[in-house]
Amino acid sequence: MKILGIESSCDETGVAIVDTEQGLLAHALHTQIAMHQAYGGVVPELASRDHIRRVIPLIEAVIKEANLSLQDIDAVAYTAGPGLAGALLVGASVAQAFAWSHNLPAIPIHHLEGHLLSPMLADPVPAFPFIALLVSGGHTQIMRVDGVGQYELLGETLDDAAGEAFDKSAKLLGLPYPGGPHLSKLAEQGDETVYSLPRPMKYSHDLDFSFSGLKTAVLTTLHKIEAEKGTLDTQNKANLAASVQAAIVDVLGFKAIKAIKESGLKRLVVAGGVGANKQLRAFLTDEMQKRGGTVYFPPLQLCTDNGAMIAHAASERVKAGLVDLSHKQYGESVRP
Ligand code: KG4
Ligand code: ZN
Repeated sequence: MKILGIESSCDETGVAIVDTEQGLLAHALHTQIAMHQAYGGVVPELASRDHIRRVIPLIEAVIKEANLSLQDIDAVAYTAGPGLAGALLVGASVAQAFAWSHNLPAIPIHHLEGHLLSPMLADPVPAFPFIALLVSGGHTQIMRVDGVGQYELLGETLDDAAGEAFDKSAKLLGLPYPGGPHLSKLAEQGDETVYSLPRPMKYSHDLDFSFSGLKTAVLTTLHKIEAEKGTLDTQNKANLAASVQAAIVDVLGFKAIKAIKESGLKRLVVAGGVGANKQLRAFLTDEMQKRGGTVYFPPLQLCTDNGAMIAHAASERVKAGLVDLSHKQYGESVRP
């Protein structure tokens, strides 16, 4: 069965085709980063309009890349939410129109389930059960995953997401949007020991997080540096970037390993945009190795939003018997 997947929850239009037997056949992506950069963040109205412009050409591109015709598609999956309401509606409308006109099922997919199962798109495929650290621009969660559709939330952020903490701190440092990758790159030149930033909730007796205090700490540190030195020179900027990254990675890593210890499981899956962070990858790879366990990451280009993870999640749901394919129900409401 060939499933066309459409992702349009934020600032990436992603389209892919996954075969339930053969896996990923083709994927294509248009990122709106350059368009939103001038505004320092995503402008929802512009995002929706750009999804409309991009989605059909991307569908044509993946059909061509997979050497298929429109008639070969057996179902259409789309991100139903969470995300920007207007942006989600573009993907939902196109997916449902396509499905309806070809008399196919339309499969709504939860964006986070897409991220959660995306490490299965790489080799080796993690077996169930596993602990998942889901770290994106909008969410930070630790989950126990016993199978497709069997997810237990063990902890989450009480305020800002990890990606948000990266992005907001980066903005304070004057780095372009989206800040995470820029801050991480700058941090490579910095010394994380020069400025000490708080590790919020690191030792709380649960698996929850809190990152909102971090940006205040960054701002306070910036004011202190400016009061003492006048301006923030390049080296100090890199040092502060390194401290921000160290603080975020420290808390994320500590809690992920805490979940591993408490669950007794040996497999850790990391997904979502922040999963692309090199320092987080290195820390968790090392820690899991020490424990005789394994950490799984999605391929780098599938860490951030993409259509492959949506088509793949739909494929997994179909294989697990969780989708009623005879029931062509259109109009599944968008979950912002
Ligand atoms: O999963 P994603 O593409 O979108 C959401 O569903 O939110 O995640 C985007 C987030 C942004 O906050 C971005 O700054 C962050 O992932 N990110 C990174 C890195 N690459 C992307 N954060 C830290 N280091 C990176 N290398
Ligand atoms: Zn995402």
